[in-house]
This record gives sequence, structure tokens and C-alpha cells, in this order.
Amino acid sequence: MEVRTNVVFFCFICLSLWYHGEVYSGGCGFSEDWLMQVTVSAEIQKSGFHRELVLSVHCAADVPDDLQALLLQRLPGGIYIDSYQLSSLQQDRGLQVLLDSEIDLEAPAYSSSGFPAFVFPTRDVGDTNRLWAKVPIHGRYQRPSGSGQKWEQVYIEAPQLLLRFDLCKELQPLPPHKLVEAPCSALNISMCIWLKIHHWQDQQAMRIEIPVGHQHLMVPVCAGTLLVTLLCFGLIARAVLAHGFSQP
Ligand SMILES: *[C@@H]1O[C@H](CO)[C@@H](O)[C@H](O)[C@H]1NC(C)=O
Repeated sequence: MEVRTNVVFFCFICLSLWYHGEVYSGGCGFSEDWLMQVTVSAEIQKSGFHRELVLSVHCAADVPDDLQALLLQRLPGGIYIDSYQLSSLQQDRGLQVLLDSEIDLEAPAYSSSGFPAFVFPTRDVGDTNRLWAKVPIHGRYQRPSGSGQKWEQVYIEAPQLLLRFDLCKELQPLPPHKLVEAPCSALNISMCIWLKIHHWQDQQAMRIEIPVGHQHLMVPVCAGTLLVTLLCFGLIARAVLAHGFSQP
């Protein structure tokens, strides 16, 4: 009797270990079918130097409650993001963007290099299948053109999508997608394991046109500025000479 109880107890322990193994280390994560239906879109709005980059993640059905998404957006040297503007948008609209370096807002395009932005899209109130973020980006000043060209083209790579589930502590790899480490949120307090999605769709780079100055306009613009300055100086000098420095 004693032996039988022990055997039953032993089997019970084995079974429960096996069961927990299945649940906790055998994994949680994404199914291939579900992932196949996830798409990313990127669009640039507005014109001129100040644009808005609208990034969206679309699911085939409602976005799962504990799904977290991260869009890794590389930006070229011709573009900058203003971190002061980001922090005010974070307060006003809940925009979640993390930059890993200081960005010089004044530098012209030809002396700047590209940088990554970590964009954490949030739930769209009007569309339960979508996560999105609207990120303000700005064109840097380009070298003036000598050939009469009015625009400089700047290419922005398509973003890369990283996904994880909040409740899934040991995400399973799912080739061809890779597990990578990246900040859990825009606060960058801790690092999380994410599934970096290998895109099936061919993703095109986006192209924007930034206005450029003209070298042949430099002489008339400088001459005009100098003329106006001299004229104003002359008028002030005349007034001073005519009325003196005396107080009225
Ligand atoms: C997050 O913080 C760590 C540690 O402070 C830092 O090494 C890393 O560069 C940060 N990541 C980003 C994207 O800012």
C-alpha cells in the first residue's frame, strides 16, 4: 500500500513537471499563420522641411491585449528628429519614441549621419486592428545647388517590426524570424526579448523631396540684404544727425 501511494505520488510529480515544462519553457509566442497576416505600413505626410512619418502595424483581427510592438526606423543624415518636440508630444499625445543618441538640430545634411529611432506604436482608438504612431521628422539644410535643381531627394528605409507578448516570458524562436534584445519601452528601463519579423512583402524605401537653395541666387540675395542694411543704416544716421541724441 505504502509503495503504491509512493508510485502514484511520484507519477503525479512527473506529470506536473512535464505539464509545467510544456507551459513555461515549451513556450509561448506567435503562430506562423497569425504572423503572416500582420503588415506594416509607412507613409509621409505634409510637405517641405517639416514632415510627419506615420507608421502602422495592422493585424487581421483585434490587436491581442498583451501584444507589444516596436518599429525600428533608420533615418538618413538628411533628416533629424527634435527630442524636445518628442517629449512634448509624449505628454500631449502619448507618442512613444526612443533615440539612442543626441541629435544635433542645426547640422546640415552633408555633415550628419543616419540614426535609428525606436518607435513604440500605440493602439488606434478608431481601429482595433491597428497600432500606430505619428512621428514628426524634419529635413536638414542641404548644400545649395549649382545646377538649378530645386529639390534634393532623401530616401527613408522601410521600418523593421519587432513583436512580443507581455505575458510570454520565454518567447520561442520562429524561423526565419529572429529573437533579438531591445528596450522594452520608450522609457528604456529594461531590455526585452523580441521577435524580429522577417518581412515577406517587398518593402520599398520612401522618398521625400527637401527644398534646396540655389548657388546662382547667392549673389542677388547677399547684394539685396546688404543694400537693405545700408539703406536702413543711412535712414537712422540721417535721423540721428537731424535730431541729435537729445531726449525729446
Ligand atoms: C538603453 O539604455 C542602455 C543602458 O543605459 C543603453 O546602453 C542603451 O543604448 C539604451 N538604448 C537606447 C535605444 O537608447
